[in-house]
Amino acid sequence: MIGLLIGVGVGPGDPELITLKAVRVLGTADAVLVPVMAGNEQETGRAEATVLEHVPADRVLRVPFALNDRGGVTAGREQAWDAAAHAVLAAFDHGAATVAFATIGDPNVYSTFGYLAQTVRGLRPDVAVQTVPGITAMQDLAARSGTVLVEGRESLTLMPITAGVEAFDAALAGRGTVVAYKGWRRTHDMVEALRRHDRLDLAVSGERLGLPDERIGPLADTPLTHTALPYLSTVLVPARRGRRGEKL
Ligand SMILES: C[S@@+](CC[C@H](N)C(=O)[O-])C[C@H]1O[C@@H](n2cnc3c(N)ncnc32)[C@H](O)[C@@H]1O
Repeated sequence: MIGLLIGVGVGPGDPELITLKAVRVLGTADAVLVPVMAGNEQETGRAEATVLEHVPADRVLRVPFALNDRGGVTAGREQAWDAAAHAVLAAFDHGAATVAFATIGDPNVYSTFGYLAQTVRGLRPDVAVQTVPGITAMQDLAARSGTVLVEGRESLTLMPITAGVEAFDAALAGRGTVVAYKGWRRTHDMVEALRRHDRLDLAVSGERLGLPDERIGPLADTPLTHTALPYLSTVLVPARRGRRGEKL
């Protein structure tokens, strides 16, 4: 039987930041899968917490993922993608026509859903894949910090800080808005790059947005003792602007 796999974006953390379409798809899918941290399965996953606000727990199947692995295609990641793909196929084999997989933010933005969908399609090419867009951490931080993301002819660069300080430097040199995902182990390097480009005063950081211990504020106010931003943090550096509409 041909199945439909839907990647559903459930927003960055605040359970209200989910679309009506996502709630409907999660509510009507024959099976709902959520990723949880491998090795830390007793903890509620980030996507799972939002899903449980909208779907009864007995309808939710938890799938371990190596969400904390770094350094490319690790054995843990490969194992988790394969196991999750087999969980999707098992749901189809047990009669599910539609399987929803919940993912934080948007399923097409640095999401584990892409790897899952590729694995499922590799095993069973006739499975159809769709996605439901979600609100990204970038958008939530812009809203929560009162920052306009882009205006007029400004560009927007979204990058993982894991790409390195040179890539961050190059993006800053472009003068458009830059958003950095995936934390930063050496905050002072990031701060130095922002100083070099005279943009530190504009940078805001959002740690664990929508979660009970969230922290939002100017990056320049980050305590000196705070040498690393956690993985679940986003840094937003808006373009410098002057008079109204000058970038039009
Ligand atoms: C694997 S990516 C997932 C991105 C997600 N699909 C999105 O659309 O926003 C993980 C990165 O997203 C950002 N992120 C996601 N949720 C966040 C949150 N609640 N607070 C701060 N940053 C978050 C962080 O930069 C984190 O390292």
